[in-house]
Amino acid sequence: MKIAILSGSPHKNGTTTRLIECFSDGAKASGHSVRRFDVAFMNIHPCTACDACHRDEHTGCIFQDDMTKIAAGLADADCIVFATPIYYFGMNGQLKTVIDRFYGIEPTIRKGQKSMLITAMSDNSEATIAPTNETYKSIVKWLEWNNVGILNAYGCETPNDLKGTDYEANAYELGRGL
Ligand SMILES: Cc1cc2nc3c(=O)[nH]c(=O)nc-3n(C[C@H](O)[C@H](O)[C@H](O)COP(=O)(O)O)c2cc1C
Repeated sequence: MKIAILSGSPHKNGTTTRLIECFSDGAKASGHSVRRFDVAFMNIHPCTACDACHRDEHTGCIFQDDMTKIAAGLADADCIVFATPIYYFGMNGQLKTVIDRFYGIEPTIRKGQKSMLITAMSDNSEATIAPTNETYKSIVKWLEWNNVGILNAYGCETPNDLKGTDYEANAYELGRGL
């Protein structure tokens, strides 16, 4: 299976990245290929709702940026993983900017893929993560994908906070179990 990970974290050695690495190790152990897009380090212009992508002429998005690479990766993937630190009770802006750009590529990515969500946050409260989980499920439903797993790492501001928890093992198993 081909797996594409969209990571919103701007921390190359943060909690989200650590969980992605565990997930990827598990996925590779099961023979899957993994392609990771660190979108915080890519050039992605926010959608300006110009609607060029929806016009009959099919001129496509007015922005020729790194979204082209991501679109190709998503179209080719059997499973798409959203990974994000929680910023103000939601996925971070870096990742949401990419998802907004799906507006122009929906026909090429709506292929019944599997999908997963991996999050990391400082808080220990269910109320902190509930909006993100709900948003994710709504996006998956809209795109006609199939959610096959959600991992929410509570109380993990830094990778050190993962010590003594099951989150790294759970991330590995999420990947291995695909
Ligand atoms: C702008 C900003 C907003 C944040 N908002 C929240 C929040 O609402 N709830 C929370 O639990 N943690 C919040 N955090 C903490 C991060 O979610 C947490 O440190 C995360 O694990 C770190 O991300 P990383 O994996 O990219 O290192 C916020 C951090 C930043 C920088």
